[in-house]
Amino acid sequence: MRIFLCIGILFISCNSEKQKISESETSKKEYDMYVPSEMATHMNRMFDIQENIKNQIQSGIIPNEFPEEILKIHTAKLSDFKERNQNFEAFSHLFLERFELIFDTTSSVPLKQRYNDVVNLCISCHQTECTGPIPRIQKLIIK
Ligand code: HEC
Repeated sequence: MRIFLCIGILFISCNSEKQKISESETSKKEYDMYVPSEMATHMNRMFDIQENIKNQIQSGIIPNEFPEEILKIHTAKLSDFKERNQNFEAFSHLFLERFELIFDTTSSVPLKQRYNDVVNLCISCHQTECTGPIPRIQKLIIK
């Protein structure tokens, strides 16, 4: 029972794209019980924040307000089956470092490139931690 529940959660939070097709009748009940972790909720916030910045850049606005709530990546609780391992910690530090650079108005690196560097870090961490949302994250790239 417990194992089934974990697998259900794993599919939803990390493989939601594929899971929708393969979902079987017997496991439906488990999905109904799914409550997103604090980190999963925060990740969706991070997605929105990043998408907002993308829209600003594309409309020629220079983002100048660092959203403090992004820092919650350091404290938000992960799903039960996941742990804050060294890999996660290393990537989250690197991610925040790059994220801060978006707001560095003195940087000589083009804004679009600093923005895309952040999206690529989202993807790098996801490649090792949670591959499901990658196709969605890729849409954040500014071409
Ligand atoms: C340090 C590693 C790391 C970084 C950086 C990272 N993620 Fe995540 N992301 C995760 C992990 C781990 C989960 C699964 C969280 C859980 O289930 O508790 C996740 C989950 C998600 C989810 C699925 C949430 C859900 O509803 O289940 C989305 C969407 C997401 N991340 C988007 C992003 C975006 C966009 C960025 C960059 C702005 C980003 N992530 C950066 C590790 C990371």
